[in-house]
Amino acid sequence: MAPQASSAFPAPSRRTVVAAVGAVGIAAALTACGSEDSSSSSSTAPSKGDAAAGGTVLAKTSDIPEGGGKIFKDHGVVVTQPSAGTFKAFSSTCTHQGCTVSGVADGVITCPCHHSAFSVTDGSVKKGPATKALPDKQITVSGDSIKLA
Ligand code: FES
Repeated sequence: MAPQASSAFPAPSRRTVVAAVGAVGIAAALTACGSEDSSSSSSTAPSKGDAAAGGTVLAKTSDIPEGGGKIFKDHGVVVTQPSAGTFKAFSSTCTHQGCTVSGVADGVITCPCHHSAFSVTDGSVKKGPATKALPDKQITVSGDSIKLA
């Protein structure tokens, strides 16, 4: 006798399905736009640090023994510390026949080929057969860094 109520759970209407598909389509479009934006961002170049400040850092002042020195073959230079806090640099190429000097000790830079010896103070010849002093090289000392100018 009581009237039948119409169904409380209607089948999904066509409109509901279309709305769902539409939402997915919009999400996909947004994702595509997002990735394009990120790939077109500009890049920033990192700074080069010490190299850009002028000169190549050869060593720390503490690397150079007082009264002695150190040879930097790759740079063709020998750096000496004739007295505390005074640094000098000379070519590491012997003026006799062009060997690379190999040792710095007791105030002299020595060549292994024919045993010439040069002063750590001014590069002058202390012992032949070389007759010409080692040429000066330009260095700068800033803080505790020794740079090749
Ligand atoms: S090349 Fe150095 S002493 Fe001869």
